[in-house]
Amino acid sequence: MSAPMSPPLLARAAAWLEAYGSPLYVYDLGDVERRTRELLSVLPEGSRLLFSLKANPLPVMAEALCRLGCDAEVSSPGELAVAMAAGFPPERVLYSGPGKSTEEVRGALSAGVTRFSAESWTDLERIDRAARAARLRARVLLRVNPEAPPVARLAMSGVSSQFGLDEAEWREGRARVAALGGVELLGVHVYQGTQLADVPALLSALRVALEVGESLSHAFELPFQVLDLGGGFPWPFATSGVGPELESLREPLARLASERKRTASAALWFESGRRLCGSSGTLWSTVMDVKRSKGKQYVVLDSGIHHLGGMSGLGRVPLVGIGVVQAGAEAGSGVLEEVNVVGPLCTPLDCFARNVRLPPLRVGDRVFVPNVGAYGATASLTGFLSRPPPLELVHRDGEVIAVHRLRWGHELHTRLPIQGSLSSEETR
Ligand SMILES: Cc1ncc(COP(=O)(O)O)c(C=O)c1O
Repeated sequence: MSAPMSPPLLARAAAWLEAYGSPLYVYDLGDVERRTRELLSVLPEGSRLLFSLKANPLPVMAEALCRLGCDAEVSSPGELAVAMAAGFPPERVLYSGPGKSTEEVRGALSAGVTRFSAESWTDLERIDRAARAARLRARVLLRVNPEAPPVARLAMSGVSSQFGLDEAEWREGRARVAALGGVELLGVHVYQGTQLADVPALLSALRVALEVGESLSHAFELPFQVLDLGGGFPWPFATSGVGPELESLREPLARLASERKRTASAALWFESGRRLCGSSGTLWSTVMDVKRSKGKQYVVLDSGIHHLGGMSGLGRVPLVGIGVVQAGAEAGSGVLEEVNVVGPLCTPLDCFARNVRLPPLRVGDRVFVPNVGAYGATASLTGFLSRPPPLELVHRDGEVIAVHRLRWGHELHTRLPIQGSLSSEETR
């Protein structure tokens, strides 16, 4: 069970649930600002911090991070559109991700974005062709899958993966890259995985990324302008608690950065989504039903894996930590019951918590899930069961700044008349 919430925060949430309805995501921009400043303060001087919009592409969130001085890391036309609308200058946007289409690359170039992370030879050559067709030069980072073993639990590098290209393969590619007339090689991009455990794990991942930069700079005989070292800065997901402190990263990281030789003049870039907005978000929902089945108690919510944790529903991450707000007579009695907390979708996968001990809940009680400002709404199965996406409310110190709802539905693309329907006789 999640830690309880303070009475003023509860009262504020209760008022918003009354005004806007349930379920409701609530994000605190003040919290995003604090976390961002905290992370910026431990990075080596002159570093750039890229906000990864995949963590939370809400327009006001992107605007806030742009104002805080972050650059943007986008991986789709939708994220690009949000970044542009949020005010990120195109030269502060990096377009990354595997499987980019020519249309995407063209779209980014015509929006003025020229920085791309290339995930493979095919990707790099597609970027090159699109840039030459637009009479532009794309400024490219080679995404590298390092030889060193991974430190991330959800490793995206150092193991076989669809991300980047093996270090050895890029190392042999100097002439092939040099032959591409639409591409200027800026440097390398290493992103080893999300949720690194602590400062030692971060340091070891960042050291690997720096070594990759040094080694490829040697192979390409180029000092490189940029080393994008990625990140993996951790924060708990959908359960209470706080992430590990990062203060102790500052000095050893500055030392590592200063030990660079060939890449000493390259700008250092870092990426983060989770650490910047994870703690800002809470999902509020309401108990719709409480029932027993074969000896087990089920609490049915008006929110489920279509609003939170598509990935947790699919077993990618542990089930969530629930906080409860009881209105009934049992409130504050200290009694606990073992329950399964489930959502309204027609699948047994729609489960937030199994066999957890919670205070007795009644229809109308509110429950909340903390630390869902990153990979919450955006990583959910929003289309499943055709229920509406949740409202998302953004505030600073209790003052509501914006309320959004993700658009959802089926745009008509092509429609032909349905042929050969059964006669009423056949269907009888
Ligand atoms: C290339 C890349 N950069 C940055 C991120 C953001 O990670 P996090 O939100 O854990 O900081 C991801 C997440 O998957 C990623 O794939």
